[in-house]
Amino acid sequence: MDAITVIRAKRDGHALTDAQIDWVIDAYTRGDVADEQMSALAMAILLNGMGREEIARWTAAMIASGERMNFAALDRPTADKHSTGGVGDKITLPLAPLVAACGAAVPQLSGRGLGHTGGTLDKLEAIPGWRASLSNERMLAVLAETGAVICAAGDGLAPADRKLYALRDVTGTVEAIPLIASSIMSKKIAEGTDSLVLDVKVGSGAFMKTIDDARELARTMVGLGTDHGVRTTALLTDMSVPLGLTAGNALEVRESVEVLAGGGPADVVELTLALAREMLDAAGLPDADPAKALADGSAMDVWRRMIAAQGGDPDADLPVAREQHVLTVPADGVLTGLDAYAVGLAAWRLGAGRARKEDPVQAGAGVELHARPGDTVRAGDPLLTLHTDTPERFDAAVEALAGDAIRVTADAEPGTGAGPIV
Ligand code: URA
Repeated sequence: MDAITVIRAKRDGHALTDAQIDWVIDAYTRGDVADEQMSALAMAILLNGMGREEIARWTAAMIASGERMNFAALDRPTADKHSTGGVGDKITLPLAPLVAACGAAVPQLSGRGLGHTGGTLDKLEAIPGWRASLSNERMLAVLAETGAVICAAGDGLAPADRKLYALRDVTGTVEAIPLIASSIMSKKIAEGTDSLVLDVKVGSGAFMKTIDDARELARTMVGLGTDHGVRTTALLTDMSVPLGLTAGNALEVRESVEVLAGGGPADVVELTLALAREMLDAAGLPDADPAKALADGSAMDVWRRMIAAQGGDPDADLPVAREQHVLTVPADGVLTGLDAYAVGLAAWRLGAGRARKEDPVQAGAGVELHARPGDTVRAGDPLLTLHTDTPERFDAAVEALAGDAIRVTADAEPGTGAGPIV
C-alpha cells in the first residue's frame, strides 16, 4: 500500500477500501505517511465526501490508533456531552456537576478554544489553581469521588485524531462533515462513556452554518455512536447569537456559577436543563429532576468538590481584565441582531482565544453583553463591555463588531428572542 494510491483514489471520487483506510490511518499515526500527503487526502475527502461505511471504518481506525478507557468499575452509569463549539458556550461548566448531582457519572474530556470559539479548559483555567491535565488514575479517582470530572484527553486517546486535527486546522480542511464526525466520535467512543448527548450548533458562530448541514452532521455522529454501542442522541441548537451574556474565560466561569446558584441568563439555564434531561434519559435516569438539583444547591456542591479535586479554589476571586471599553447602543429601538461570529471574533482579538495552539490566553479578556436580541434599547445606553489586559487590542475588537454585526430596528416588536433549541 502507498499514500499516493490512496490520495488518487479519493481525488478521483472513489470510495476508499477498508484496507486503504486502516493502512493510511495507522501509517500516518506512526509517521510513515507525511503531513503533506495527509493534507492532500483530507482536502480530497473535503471535496469528494465519504460514504457511511467509509466514515465508520475511518472512525474505527482512529479509535484503534490509541487506548480505550473503561468506566465499568464505577457504581453509576456514565453520561457525556459534546458541543460542536460556539461563542459563549459555557454549558459544560454547570452541566457536568448538575448531571452528577442527579446520579450519573460525567467524564467530560474537553478541549481548548481555537479561533473565535472558546474552549472549556481555557475557561476553567481562569480559576486559580485549577489543573486540566490529570493522569487516567487521577481522572477516575475524581470521577468516583465527586461524580464529575472535566479534564484534557490524555495523549493515548485517539492519537491519530490529535495529529490530524492539528493538520486540518492549518490546511483549511476542518469543515468536512466526515472529518468532523469521525474526529469527535473517535474520541468519545475511545473514552468509553455509556451514553452521549451531542449539542450540534448551527449559525454564524458555528462550524455548520445551515440547518441541513447541522442535521447531516448530527445524523452521522448519532449513527457512529450507536454502531459502537454508545447510546447517542443530538440536539440542534442556535449559534447565530452568543449564548448568555458573556464570551471569554473568567467572564463565562462567573456566569456559570450564577447558573449553579439558581440565577443566570434564561437561555443558558434553558439549554443546560434540556441537555441535562437528555443525558439523564440516555443514562437510564429519566426520573431525576435537574431543575431541583439547581434550585436546592446540590449541583453547586458537586461543582465546588469537582473544582477543589483538581486543585482549584472555588472561593477565589476570578481574574478581571485590566482595561474595559464600553460600546453604546447606536439608536433607539429593538436589538434585532447581535452576530455570534462577530462577538466571538471580538473576544478572540481581545485575548480570550489564541491564534496558534501554543499561544497563552488572557483569563479576564472577553465581551460582556448588556442586552440580547429582542430587548428594547435606548441610544447611548451601554450595549457591550470589552475586556482586555492589552488596550491596543480594542480597535481590532471594535472593527470585528462593525457593519451588520449589531442591528437596532426602530419599529420592531420587542420579544424574548428565540430560545436556544432549534
Ligand atoms: N471538534 C473536534 O474534536 N473535531 C473536529 O473536527 C471539529 C470539532
